[in-house]
Amino acid sequence: MAYSEKVIEHYENPRNVGSFEKSDDHVGTGMVGAPACGDVMKLQIRVNDQGIIEDAKFKTYGCGSAIASSSLVTEWVKGKTLDQALEIKNAAIAEELALPPVKIHCSILAEDAIKAAVADYKEKHAK
Ligand code: FES
Ligand code: FES
Repeated sequence: MAYSEKVIEHYENPRNVGSFEKSDDHVGTGMVGAPACGDVMKLQIRVNDQGIIEDAKFKTYGCGSAIASSSLVTEWVKGKTLDQALEIKNAAIAEELALPPVKIHCSILAEDAIKAAVADYKEKHAK
C-alpha cells in the first residue's frame, strides 16, 4: 500500500513521542487498541490550571498511519480546551493525512485516544 506524503513525513519525524508521569494530576492518559489489527496507541495530555492542553505526548505500537495520526493529533490538541479537543474527528485526521479507506480505523484510534485521555483527566478531577 502506498502511504501519502504526509503520513511518511509524520512517520519519519514523529512529533511529541514519549510519555508523562501517569500519576501527575495535570496529566490525562488514554490507552486504546484497534480490534481490526491489534495496534495500540497511548496518548497523554498535560492540562494547565486554566484548563488548556499545554502539551501532549504519544506512544503508538502500530502501522505508519496510526503513528502519523497520533503524531498529528498531539500537535492539534495543543492550546485547545478539553471540549475543543473532543471536537477533533477522525474524518479530519483522515483527510489531513489522505488516508485510504482501509486505514480509516487508524484515525479512529487517534480520535478515541484523545477522548480516553480527556475522560481520564476529567475523572481525576471529578472529586
Ligand atoms: Fe499492521 Fe496495524 S495491521 S500495523
Ligand atoms: Fe491498524 Fe493502522 S492498521 S492502526
